[in-house]
Amino acid sequence: MAHYLVTGGCGFIGSHLADRLIADGHRVTILDDLSTGRLENKPTLARLVVGDIADQQAVREAMEGVDGVFHLAAIASVPRSREFWAETHRTNLSGTITVFEAARAARNGAPVPVVYASSAAVYGDNTATPLREDAATRPLSAYGADKLGCELHARVAWEIHGVPTVGFRFFNVYGPRQDPASPYSGVISIFARKVSRGEEVTIYGDGQQVRDFVFVGDVVRFLVRAMERRPQGAAQGADVFNLCTGRPTSLLMLLDVLQELCGSRVRRVHLPPRPGDIRVSIGDPARLRAGFDDVCRVGLLQGLGATLTGE
Ligand code: NAD
Ligand code: UD1
Repeated sequence: MAHYLVTGGCGFIGSHLADRLIADGHRVTILDDLSTGRLENKPTLARLVVGDIADQQAVREAMEGVDGVFHLAAIASVPRSREFWAETHRTNLSGTITVFEAARAARNGAPVPVVYASSAAVYGDNTATPLREDAATRPLSAYGADKLGCELHARVAWEIHGVPTVGFRFFNVYGPRQDPASPYSGVISIFARKVSRGEEVTIYGDGQQVRDFVFVGDVVRFLVRAMERRPQGAAQGADVFNLCTGRPTSLLMLLDVLQELCGSRVRRVHLPPRPGDIRVSIGDPARLRAGFDDVCRVGLLQGLGATLTGE
């Protein structure tokens, strides 16, 4: 049994991870400021520290004595990073550096490993399809720039401070518990709720933008695996992997499938594309497969079914 800190553990992905760690018999401490996370998401057996990820003392205290850190706390919305540039930077980059710094001496003065969330947003307007990890990073948003900054600081964490890390460039993650009520939330959670209620959906742009949607259960499996065993072929103590399926889905296709599953047709309103929005984002999962001897297993139909029933 190990003791892990999950930052952002009351959020969408973090709470699924915390559930899994507890089911595996581990001790879990969560650090979350409950800004987008919810108390109801916290597993009963997890200890919750309510605090800010950029607060050095709060992070140090929450990390005291743990065996490893899953760092997921962030402001996950691209449009919010446009509206609140400096505020999101503080959480998304300064917060991550605060985590790496505390990880230098978390267990009896020795470093502990950190598995953290980067993002496909680091590729920005690179139009390569599919995107391999060695594709040029050209973030278009403050959010993507900060996630790239996390990867650069992860390298410093390892090279200078001996903190081993694994970063995952999550593509578009979806599943139960992703907040359907916030306009800043992921498109699947928003569309799933609207279509199931027969309500009108808003499409930014022509709806032909393409995403690589990954089910949250697959994400959790890779996070846990990266903590337990260093991936094969990881040349250094700071490595980064795409977490993706390699399968493209346009927004219009997504809407069709949801309508089919719900047996309803809804009105669609088109608004201009969001500034900084990425047109095509498809990852190449080859390195993920080689490093972990595993792939994302849940297809879109199955994953959308689980999202709609909340299971
Ligand atoms: P989420 O908003 O559900 O979870 C983020 C959690 O972090 C929330 O519980 C929130 O309360 C907490 N948090 C935010 N600011 C904080 C702060 N200053 N101090 C402490 N806690 C804070 O989002 P999510 O989708 O679960 O995202 C988890 C991670 O995965 C984030 O790092 C996000 O950038 C990354 N990511 C998500 C996706 C996706 O498609 N959902 C894709 C790529 C990367
Ligand atoms: C998402 C994640 C981001 C992650 C990135 C990785 C969220 C909130 N965002 O960003 O954290 O780093 O994937 O690839 O989880 N759209 C509509 N109508 C809506 C909502 C969205 O048309 O009501 C469109 C958007 O303009 C965009 C697409 O759907 O073109 C996807 O949007 P969104 O789910 O917000 O995700 P990303 O911006 O790709």
